[in-house]
Amino acid sequence: MRMALVCTLSAIIFVAPAFGQPMPPVPPGEETVDAYTISDANAGATPVDGQDLFAAFHGHEGISRIVDGLVEQVQKDSRLTEIFKASDFVRLRRTLKEQFCHILNGGCSYTGRDMKSVHADHGITTAEFNALVEVLQAAMTREGIVFSAQNRLLAKLAPMKRDAVTR
Ligand code: HEM
Repeated sequence: MRMALVCTLSAIIFVAPAFGQPMPPVPPGEETVDAYTISDANAGATPVDGQDLFAAFHGHEGISRIVDGLVEQVQKDSRLTEIFKASDFVRLRRTLKEQFCHILNGGCSYTGRDMKSVHADHGITTAEFNALVEVLQAAMTREGIVFSAQNRLLAKLAPMKRDAVTR
C-alpha cells in the first residue's frame, strides 16, 4: 500500500512536468483562450547557442521594439490586415516577444500556443507567409539589426512555414 502511494507520488512529481505547466491567470488586457499545455516546445524552435545573437538583437529592448513594429505593421499592410483583423494584439505582442527571446537564447520561457494549432484556422498562403517575413525584415532593419543576425533568426523561423501555411 505504502509502496503504491510512493510510486504514484513519484510518477506525479517526475512525469507531470513533461506535460507542461498549468494555465496561468489571463494577463491584464488579454482575451481568454482555450486551455492548452504550456511548454517551450510550443515555440517551434530550440534556442541558438551562446549569447551573441541576443546581444546582436539589442537584448530585451530590441526584441520588444521589433515585435511592436511588426504587430503595428501587420495591421496596416493590406496583404495581412484581413488575417489579423480578429487577433488579440496584446497577447500576440507578449507571446511573440517570449518566442523570439526564447529562440535568441535570451533566457525567456515561451508560454504561447504551438505554431500548428494557433495558425490552423487562418488558411494562410505562402504569399502571406512571405509578406509577414518581409514585414519582420523591415522591423529588424529599422532596429539596425545586421543582416547576418537577421538571417540567423529567419533560419530558425523558416521551418515553421509547414505549420503556419495551410493552403
Ligand atoms: C515563422 C512564422 C510565424 C511565427 C513564429 C508566428 C508566431 C505566432 C505566435 C507566437 C502567435 C501567438 C500564439 C498564441 O496566441 O498563443 C501567433 C498568432 C497568430 N499568427 Fe503567427 N506566426 C508566424 C507566421 C504567421 C503568418 C505567416 C501569419 C499570417 C500571414 C500569421 C498569423 C497569425 C495570426 C492571425 C495569429 C493570431 C491567432 C489568434 O489570435 O487566434 N502567423 N503567431
